[in-house]
Amino acid sequence: MSSDPATTPPLDQLGRPVRDLRVSLTDRCNLRCTYCMPAEVFDKDHVFLRKEQLLRLTELDRIIGAFVRCGVRKLRLTGGEPLLRRGAVKFLRGLGRFAELEDVAMTTNGLLLAEFAEELAEAGLHRVTVSLDALDPEVFGAMNGRGHHPSRVLEGIAAAQAAGLGVKVNMVVQRGVNDSQILPMARHFKDLGVTLRFIEFMDVGNTNHWEPHMVVPGRKILAMLAREFDFEPVAADYPGEVASRYRHRDNGSEFGVITSISAPFCRQCSRARLSADGRLFTCLFASEGFDLVGAMRAGNLDDESLHCLVADLWSQRNDRYSEIRSGSGSAQKVEMSFIGG
Ligand code: GTP
Ligand code: 5AD
Ligand code: SF4
Ligand code: SF4
Repeated sequence: MSSDPATTPPLDQLGRPVRDLRVSLTDRCNLRCTYCMPAEVFDKDHVFLRKEQLLRLTELDRIIGAFVRCGVRKLRLTGGEPLLRRGAVKFLRGLGRFAELEDVAMTTNGLLLAEFAEELAEAGLHRVTVSLDALDPEVFGAMNGRGHHPSRVLEGIAAAQAAGLGVKVNMVVQRGVNDSQILPMARHFKDLGVTLRFIEFMDVGNTNHWEPHMVVPGRKILAMLAREFDFEPVAADYPGEVASRYRHRDNGSEFGVITSISAPFCRQCSRARLSADGRLFTCLFASEGFDLVGAMRAGNLDDESLHCLVADLWSQRNDRYSEIRSGSGSAQKVEMSFIGG
């Protein structure tokens, strides 16, 4: 006899539960990071979603409810840049009704964080993950595609800390571009007590000119760090954590390495992603998403039916792109700025 989908959290085809929902609030961004939204592609002719195409926040709230019933305990708001979405703070406040959510985080580039940090904390956000790829103004200015100085992001980080938000920093490492920044970034964030994660440059989307030689493998990053720092591995915080974690022995600060290229972690992947126009992607490297909001509207689904649909979609999932990365590169993949990191 099959189990009752109304009460049993779904498992996908590879036996993986859904624990982590990542929601893109907008496909727009005020930066043009070369590895994510290269300026020559995302230029004035690029067509972004129109306001009326965005998933309404009331609909998003219901979809989150369905995922929570399916087992989601971590929610991450992403973009593009999520702080560009009007109503984001009010929306966060409403999430307080989901007592089951153990972790509510936001991925942001930090440019607007100094302005928003207090409001975000007061609205119930637990933590932010701030993208920062270099401390050197020239390196950072070139990588962010808009010439922005790191000081504004650092002010955002300080404001988030002052507001009581947890803070992590993400650094996408590209060989020959910002690998010279690995040690300066490590020193800076070790002293600040902020967890820095070194991320292998990934072949997401179709526009970032990814080449294997541009990846600095996690083990090389660790070897570089080991020449200067004394650290030890730390056990994962939760099953399926993407970062391998380490702790500095002298001051207890942590850092992490995310090795989606050199050591994929699909086997435990419990992440679902929702694009800003309400499509469900069950893998970061998918080419198509399921039009969840379209189905919800067309069928005028009540919460029960929505929950069953989400459970059913998850049960059909069999993605494990990073483990079987073929290198054929022919399939059109969704852009990361569309579904968030
Ligand atoms: P914590 O909740 O703080 O542990 O965050 P996280 O480990 O989920 O990491 P975060 O959301 O900051 O993602 C960091 C980076 O890891 C992303 O920007 C991606 O580059 C990569 N990443 C996250 N999730 C996935 C995934 O499901 N697949 C792959 N291949 N990479 C991922
Ligand atoms: N490779 C790895 N990480 C990426 N991100 C965006 N594009 C890439 C890529 N090509 C991640 C960064 C950023 C988050 C929004 O997405 O970690 O912090
Ligand atoms: Fe914007 Fe983040 Fe993409 Fe950079 S990585 S372009 S900040 S969405
Ligand atoms: Fe999950 Fe797809 Fe990333 Fe593998 S490649 S960890 S299945 S999102």
